[in-house]
Parts: sequence; C-alpha cells; structure tokens
Amino acid sequence: MIIILQPNTDKNSEEYRETLRHLYNLPNIIIREHQEIGVQQVLTELYLIGETSAIDTEEIALLPGVERVVRVSEEYRILGRHKDETRSSHFEYNGVLFSQHSLHVFAGLCAVDSREHVELMMQALQANHQVCARMGAYKPRTSPYAFQGLGTACLPYVFELAGKYGIKVIAMEVTHESHIHEIDQALSKAGNPTGVMLQIGTRNTQNFELLKIAGRQQKYPILLKRGFGITLEESLNAAEYLASEGNRRVIFCLRGMKTNAGDPHRNFVDFAHVPVVKRLTRMPVCIDPSHSVGSRAQSPDGIMEVMHVTAQGIIAGANMVLVDFHPAPEKALVDGPQALLLEELPRFLEDVAIAREAYEK
Ligand code: E4P
Ligand code: PEP
Repeated sequence: MIIILQPNTDKNSEEYRETLRHLYNLPNIIIREHQEIGVQQVLTELYLIGETSAIDTEEIALLPGVERVVRVSEEYRILGRHKDETRSSHFEYNGVLFSQHSLHVFAGLCAVDSREHVELMMQALQANHQVCARMGAYKPRTSPYAFQGLGTACLPYVFELAGKYGIKVIAMEVTHESHIHEIDQALSKAGNPTGVMLQIGTRNTQNFELLKIAGRQQKYPILLKRGFGITLEESLNAAEYLASEGNRRVIFCLRGMKTNAGDPHRNFVDFAHVPVVKRLTRMPVCIDPSHSVGSRAQSPDGIMEVMHVTAQGIIAGANMVLVDFHPAPEKALVDGPQALLLEELPRFLEDVAIAREAYEK
C-alpha cells in the first residue's frame, strides 16, 4: 500500500507525527518513506509493506496530511501498473527525459580500453548529435583470466572527454558498491555536467545486496539488465528491489536470454517482451542488440542482424538502445565481434529513426 501525503509535508509537524503513530500501531507492517525533492515541491510517500490487505484505505485516507492511498498489487508494488494510473512513469536526468514514450540511443564502448578510443567514440557521437553513451569500466567476465576492465583508472579521461563532447548521460556498469563511490568521486573531480546511469549487468540481476545498495542512492538512475537465465518475473522483482529501497528511476533492459536449445545468436533475442514489461510495469524499456546477437553477422540484404533486431525492439516500443561500437573492433578487449564500426553509426541512427517512425504510425 502506498500513502501519498500532501505536497511539502513537514516531517517535523505534529500532523505528520500523528499519522506515523497511527501507522506504526498497525500489526505486521513495515513502513518505508520515500521523498522526491522537486524544484517546486517535495513529494512524500509512505510504503506500507506486509499484511496490508486488512487495512481500511478509507480510514488511512482520513489521517492528517494524507492526500490519497493506493492499494497496489502484490507484484511490483512501486514499479508495477496500479489501478491509479496517475503515478509518474517518467523521470528527467541531466536534461534527458526517460519515459515509456521516449527513445534514446546509448552507443559506445563495451569496455573502455584507451583514451584514444574513448575520444574517437565521443567525437563520433557528437558528430551525430548524440548526448548519451555507454562506457564499460568495470567488466564482469566469465573467466577470472579475462580482461576485467580498466576500472577507476579510466574514469578521469572518460568524464573529461564526455564533458568535452557534450555527453549528458553515460551508462556505466557497476559490479560492487565501491564502484559507485569511485564514479561519484571521479565525476565530481571532472567538474563537468556529465551524469551517469548506473548499469547492473545480467549476471548481477539477482545480486540482492548490490540491488539494495544501488537502490538506496538517489543520485544516479539505474539501468537493470534482465537476468539472462531467470524468469521475467524474477527480473522484474529485482527491479522492485531498487525501487523499494527508494530509487524509482529504473530502466529495464532486455539483452537476450541464455538458451539450451542452441541459437544462431549469442543469446535468444527477447525483444518481444518490450510490450510485456510495459504492460506489467511503468519502467522505460531498453534493448541491448549487441549482447543479444553477439556478432556482426549480416543478412543477405546487407543489413547487420544487430540492426534488424534493433528495429524489432523499437517497433515493439523500446525507449532506449544500448549498443556496442568500437573504432577498431579487432582490437577491442571485450566483445569485439559484436561491435559496430564508428562509420556505421550514422546509418544505425538513420535505421533507428525509420523504425521509430514505424512504431509511431
Ligand atoms: C561485457 O559486456 C560482458 O562482460 C561480456 O559480454 C561477458 O563475456 P564473457 O562471457 O566473454 O566474459
Ligand atoms: C554490458 O552491457 O557491458 C554487459 C556486461 O552486458 P550484460 O550484463 O547484458 O552481459
């Protein structure tokens, strides 16, 4: 159950304390407070977690300072679709609006490998009027002997160059709490307006302690990859972990599924679930055609399969595309085979625009 308080509720007021006293007397209930501090007003919500079915919503609605009460389904209490459709399903971050209606391309390096390659990538993004990017600094790898990413060492030049080329948001994976602090420190040292979207990878979709840590911070929005070996429901509940800790600025990313049935692609492309995620939740939905397809294979029409599946995802309603590019894929230290060439970026973006037009028709 979600209790939405009057805007600009004063938490030190007797009114607020009286309402909390009443709620704390409810049996088997945990209360989580969520505040969104906007320019004009502060919105306060109280999440009641536990045995809420017996609670009389009309009684709660009469408590001091309560604006309205939303009884939510057991599933995805915060991110889920509720009877009350007015709850916001969008957020703005660093001047970029993310919603279930927007579309942004986050093209970039799967793994940062040199300052030179980062600069070439960002020059290409600026030349193509892109303000979002992906840059992998911390890399989860199957083998402990594989390249693990440059880590914090590359952050200073990644953020310096992002500022130089007008990049507003960088999707950057974190695999440990310390990475969030390292990013935070490097960003503040860079002193430019670039922001970061914390990416939680498919291998960490059910890393509940990492989800709780990421969810507790409000500074950065989160891109959560669907677990490639778990159900959609389990992955959506993982997103709910983030929101239940307080961070509702979550984008859900489909990136293909592991399959034992064998597949011509690296993973079985699951972009048909774009509308399903939108039906079940309010999250903007991202697609990752690079990790899904896993190669530069081209169909006879000369179009790469990465682009074909991208178009599928966009026509299905995707709101974000996370895609690997590299100046010299043969030199890439991670996933080179799936990276597109910088000179292919204009055509990729053109095809994205065509697919978007088809979706909007
Ligand atoms: C980066 O994108 C991932 O860490 C990578 O796809 C994992 O690939 P691997 O199984 O070769 O480590
Ligand atoms: C990535 O996008 O760099 C990545 C590791 O993807 P995934 O978690 O989907 O494998």
